[in-house]
Amino acid sequence: MSLKGKRILLGVTGSIAAYKSAFLVRLLIKAGAEVQIVATASAFEFITPLTLATLSKKPVLSEFQKDNTGAWNNHVELGLWADLMIVAPATANTLGKFSGGLCDNLLEAVYLSARCPVMLAPAMDLDMYQHSSVQDSMRKLISYGNHILEAQSGELASGLSGQGRMMEPEDILIEIESFFSKSKDFQGKKVLVTLGPTQEALDPVRFISNHSSGKMGLAIAESFFKRGAEVHLIAGPIKTEIPSKFTTVNVSTAEEMLKSAQSKHSAMDICVFSAAVADYRPAEVADQKIKKSDSDLSISLTKNPDIAQTLGKKKSQKQIHVGFALETENEKKNAKQKLTKKNFDLVVLNSLQDKGAGFQGDTNKVTIFHRSGEQIESELLSKSQVAELILDQIKNVPVWI
Ligand code: CTP
Repeated sequence: MSLKGKRILLGVTGSIAAYKSAFLVRLLIKAGAEVQIVATASAFEFITPLTLATLSKKPVLSEFQKDNTGAWNNHVELGLWADLMIVAPATANTLGKFSGGLCDNLLEAVYLSARCPVMLAPAMDLDMYQHSSVQDSMRKLISYGNHILEAQSGELASGLSGQGRMMEPEDILIEIESFFSKSKDFQGKKVLVTLGPTQEALDPVRFISNHSSGKMGLAIAESFFKRGAEVHLIAGPIKTEIPSKFTTVNVSTAEEMLKSAQSKHSAMDICVFSAAVADYRPAEVADQKIKKSDSDLSISLTKNPDIAQTLGKKKSQKQIHVGFALETENEKKNAKQKLTKKNFDLVVLNSLQDKGAGFQGDTNKVTIFHRSGEQIESELLSKSQVAELILDQIKNVPVWI
């Protein structure tokens, strides 16, 4: 895809991965983009301004003041100029400062002034990447609407091996191209996403639930938002903080989730049922904590409503419903049956047999089934890449206008 006419502000910070920024600039310039580089002082310990300026065909900016003349690099103008800001590599230091709103260099001032979307490609050693403070910074930045291009696993400059390598420039280019090509293709659409587990009380202190993290649902919500949709969430109890840009109803039980979904359904264009709803709940909820005794205890369970199936019966010709299936045997057959049973237009099958797929992790491997019989099998992808794939397939559903 051509990036002709696109203005990209590339931030470079002080990591050994800064040498890869040179390759990224070359790819962006080759694709037709106009690139302005803003680097931190420590970036120049890894790559020279001359290299970056030669490749980007523009002087590299780094200081607030130009040559001590009193003239200055206007961070507000730079922030407004760009169609996209990408910081690659983004160090732990820069992520921490961005997330905390600090502003002691030009790059941070530009970041705070930017009105365009922001992508950040972290690069650091594996233990730094896993540190709670760095993870917190990233979560915060995601909640501000920034897009984190997850670090990849492999050999690191320290000699250790693990997650922390900056995404390869070729893959960053794909992310940038897909950002510009898809931009706002779901503008005007109203989308409902159910996500997370449900909790079914047994007594005031115990409940039945499952391991769903809600991460896949959140990734889907993020993609819809990025591509212009109005996103409504009905979320079971999850650990991740839900960004305030989504309209969210928090629920605990399947019955609450159904009630909330029913009240929103008719106004929606697309519904994605990613919640791991408990199929059963305790038939009786004890008023007081159940005390242990010498004998065994049996719990009688009663069936919960099926949210997707109930709303599937109400689905209009213009609405699109997407469901999930998590199977341990006869995967494809069971997944396809759900298309008709629950009146889905698409079913996304997570295979528990694939390493890296499933409830808790950050990656997933899926097969997407269309009513037409078409099947799309993915590689192992990040959950946000799976989300993009699902949105792309929604556009292939015949009722999509
Ligand atoms: N689902 C739902 N309400 C339920 C159960 C499931 O909305 N009470 C939705 C899920 O969000 C998912 C799809 O239905 O999109 C498939 O759920 P799954 O649990 O795999 O299938 P079940 O129909 O419950 O069948 P089984 O447990 O036998 O696999």
